[in-house]
This record gives sequence, C-alpha cells and structure tokens, in this order.
Amino acid sequence: MFSPEGPTLRELAVQALSSVEHGYDLLAPKFDHTPFRTPDTILDAVASALDGLGPFDDGLDLCCGTGAGLDVLERVCRGSVTGIDLSAGMLEVARQRTGGGDGQTGPRVSLVRGDARALPFAATATAGPAFDLVVSFGAFGHFLPDELPGLFAQVHCVLRPGGRFAFPVVAPARPGTRAYWALLGFDAVMRVRNAVWKPPFVMYYRAFRLADVRRELTYAGFDVETRALPEFGQRPDGSPRCRLVVATRTPAEPAVSSG
Ligand SMILES: C[S@@+](CC[C@H](N)C(=O)[O-])C[C@H]1O[C@@H](n2cnc3c(N)ncnc32)[C@H](O)[C@@H]1O
Repeated sequence: MFSPEGPTLRELAVQALSSVEHGYDLLAPKFDHTPFRTPDTILDAVASALDGLGPFDDGLDLCCGTGAGLDVLERVCRGSVTGIDLSAGMLEVARQRTGGGDGQTGPRVSLVRGDARALPFAATATAGPAFDLVVSFGAFGHFLPDELPGLFAQVHCVLRPGGRFAFPVVAPARPGTRAYWALLGFDAVMRVRNAVWKPPFVMYYRAFRLADVRRELTYAGFDVETRALPEFGQRPDGSPRCRLVVATRTPAEPAVSSG
C-alpha cells in the first residue's frame, strides 16, 4: 500500500491528530507515494469518459490536492484549468508538479487556496459563472452528509448552464469482505477519534452513498446520470465496480415574453 518514499506510521498518526488542513499540509511532500492519491487507472478512465462528453472550455478540480485531476482537465478542456484546495502544502506540491510560478502554474493552470464549501468564483454580471466542467477525486469523505447540499449548491453556482459536475464513485464493498471490514473499522476509529480529540479530522469512507448523492444533486438543480467505467468490470451481480456520476446544470429556461 505505501511505498518506501511514503509516510511512516508515526507521521500518519501525527497527521491524523491534526485538522484536515494541517494534516494535509504535513502529508503533502509524501502524498503522491500514498494510496490516498487517486490512481492513474481511475484518472485515465474518467478522462476517456469525459472525452465523449466534451469538448469543454474551462475546468475546475475541486479539492485538487497535488493535482491528480488537473491532468484530466488538461486533457479534456480547451480553456483554463483551475485547482482549488484547502491545504497550502498540497497546492505547493501541485504547483511544483505543474511547473509554474506564483498561483499561475502553467500557461493555463491556476491554483487557488480555498474551501470547497465557499467557492471564491462568484459569477460576475458580465462574464457569468466561471466553468463548464467541475471534477473531483477522492475527497468526498471529508464532507459530512449534511454538508452535501451546500457543497453541491456551490458547484451549481460556478457552472455555466449546461455545464457538468463529474466524479467517479466506486461500488461499496460487499458485506463480509475484507474491504468491507477494513472500511468499517477505519470509519469507526475516526468516529472515536473525533469524539475525543479536537480539532476534528473528518474522513469517513462509508458516508458518501450514491442514492443520497443523486438525491442531493437533483435538489441542487442538476440532471443526474451515471455511466459505468468499463475498465473496472462488473461485480458478480452485474453492477459496475466503478461509475462516473455526471450531473448537468439544467440549462436556463428561455425568457418568456409577456407580450
Ligand atoms: C485524499 S486528498 C485527494 C486529492 C486529489 N484530488 C487526488 O485525488 O489525489 C483530499 C484533498 O481534499 C482537500 N480538502 C478537504 N476538505 C476540503 C475543503 N473543504 N475544501 C477544499 N479542499 C478540501 C484536502 O486538502 C486534500 O488535498
């Protein structure tokens, strides 16, 4: 799971006792050597699926970390590519990876420090909302279920009408499997940790459920569909192991003439 360049157990423990922001600041230099970074197999499968939905102009990677999803956006977007993350340390690694200077990393990649729950990309009267595509990888476990409506409303605000919010969702582990017990155990440990230790480190694997996500996206004003990512095959019951959720901001209603 962890390569020799990855964090030691002690380093992970110190990070897990910090806040989300500070924990990722500490982890940042070694993050790309952990299993927490989204694997290239998932990034490639998502990029292929998005290729068929594009072309897109301006893209945003929500909770970009060290920039895994920025590579996807660079492949499928013709215009600007922006990453936003809470952790300055993660953004610094992303900046080094994408090879640029202050804030502006490459000719078209910008990195912004900010909270996904209060996005700093307000629509302007002249330019309107900023993005045609928002992606996110591996970060929804950091949001409690009651934060999803606010999070999805933020994404809806920054997308142009017809714009897409896309992210992969892996099928939940089947009860009784090793993965099931491992994730259950992880979440239980985090709940105990958050009950007895401040600041909290919100990270729960089993809290982000497809049915709830679909419902909350619909409430936020999206048309929601899911597409199987065929690269990951099917479970014994025939359902996909991994899907791409594609939520489309409903195009604006045409103005109705009164006269
Ligand atoms: C597991 S990492 C995933 C990083 C990257 N997307 C990837 O797939 O490799 C989760 C990231 O979410 C960021 N994050 C957590 N809560 C956030 C919030 N409220 N706003 C912005 N970023 C947040 C963390 O700082 C961290 O970089």
